[in-house]
Amino acid sequence: VLDPADWERFRASAHHALDDAIDFMRDVRERPVWQPVPEDVKETLRAPMPRDPTAFDDVYDEFKRAVLPYATGNIHPRFLGWVHGSGTPGGAVADMLAAAMNSNAGGRDHGAVYVERQVISWFHDLFGWSAEASGLLVVGTSAANLGAVLVARTSALQSVREHGVEAAQSRLTGYASAATHSCVKKALEIAGLGSTSLRVLPVDAEHRIDVNALHDAVHRDRARGYHPFLIVGNAGTVDVGAIDPLEELAEFAADERLWFHVDGAFGAPAYLSPALRTKLAGIERADSIAFDFHKWLHVPYDAGCLIIRDGAMHRATFAGEGPYITRMQRGLAAGEPWFADFGPDLSRSFRALKVWFTIKEHGAVKLGEAIQTNCAQAAYLREKLAATGRFEVYPGGELQIVCFWPRASSEATVDEAVIRLQESGTAVISSTTLDGRRVMRACITNHRTRNTDLDLLVASIARIVEELQSTRSV
Ligand SMILES: Cc1ncc(COP(=O)(O)O)c(C=O)c1O
Repeated sequence: VLDPADWERFRASAHHALDDAIDFMRDVRERPVWQPVPEDVKETLRAPMPRDPTAFDDVYDEFKRAVLPYATGNIHPRFLGWVHGSGTPGGAVADMLAAAMNSNAGGRDHGAVYVERQVISWFHDLFGWSAEASGLLVVGTSAANLGAVLVARTSALQSVREHGVEAAQSRLTGYASAATHSCVKKALEIAGLGSTSLRVLPVDAEHRIDVNALHDAVHRDRARGYHPFLIVGNAGTVDVGAIDPLEELAEFAADERLWFHVDGAFGAPAYLSPALRTKLAGIERADSIAFDFHKWLHVPYDAGCLIIRDGAMHRATFAGEGPYITRMQRGLAAGEPWFADFGPDLSRSFRALKVWFTIKEHGAVKLGEAIQTNCAQAAYLREKLAATGRFEVYPGGELQIVCFWPRASSEATVDEAVIRLQESGTAVISSTTLDGRRVMRACITNHRTRNTDLDLLVASIARIVEELQSTRSV
């Protein structure tokens, strides 16, 4: 009843939509990076649920008018805000194909499961992990970090699934630097451990964890009867792209028998670049790694990944059962182990297809080179900003992030200038607070950016700051 009455007519409409989507990606450079959603458009998007059918072509027209022009903007070469990947045309088509198959990758014996296993095994191989390792594609690194915290919790507290955290003889404590993404704290909260069980450690001038402070904190907690269980290291902090001393953290975690998790949301895939790999030394010694395909590997949203060295512990954390999901030796209900046993979801999309397509289409070498190019562009941007004489540039950060602030101006100038730049449609950057100072932040996780785009960014932001300073409007 829901299929097209006229397949040939639908084919023509679908081809038209695909052509528009390809033009949309091809011509992105000609459009503003971002534009706000107008009030009347917002109003149309508040209309109640339709009772009666609308022709596909009419729905598509509304999409083209009310939705398509108001994208986040991250496919644009001058989108340098937060940490967004820029997608690829091949990835977009792969996502459409996955939707056509409409597979449920929670388990069973079918192609989507084997594709996801293959993608995960590529990353086990990259880090030199054995066949005991496991993994799961998830929404993003927030979800992957949560998964890792839950597996680490099982490792420390084997009966937690039956008896909850109350069964712990002493309170579990985790350790991460002050530069760690807030989703790690959220993960400890969701895990029932409470945010105060996360010991937030100071960072050095380069935003790397203070290892001595970590040692002291763990020893102090042990002496006070706590149960240290987890260290989270960063392979690329969200603010500046700092990399914690992962080798030292791995060593200490092994000595203290703590679970060593690495948040490599964007940084872990830099391991594909031989030139950057040495910066990440020690990541391969982690018990678990969280990272995103949708950031620096440019797979369309959403696609994150969690890999766990001890696959049995991973499964022990999430495995479920029920007569309606009995596993069989043959037939569609075969295919053990099921992905549903490695995460909270039973129904799961065929997220792996767009990852598989992207990595096969471009290959590991080119993807690594694109990452390295972004790091070189960050160095270029730093020089350009400094050369204006108008900006101070934060010297730290080892990857693709550049933080800077206008000389002799107020905190309000920073945020106002960033907003005005976004509203101009010329470029998108974001802002953050670094060492107590409000700063502008450009993150070049973008395979479309050229150096000329960075020249335009510098000229535009300099002009906006000059205007703000001359009118003293903030
Ligand atoms: C270091 C780090 N960790 C975690 C996250 C959260 O990842 P996601 O947005 O995919 O949930 C981010 C996002 O930028 C990040 O930079």
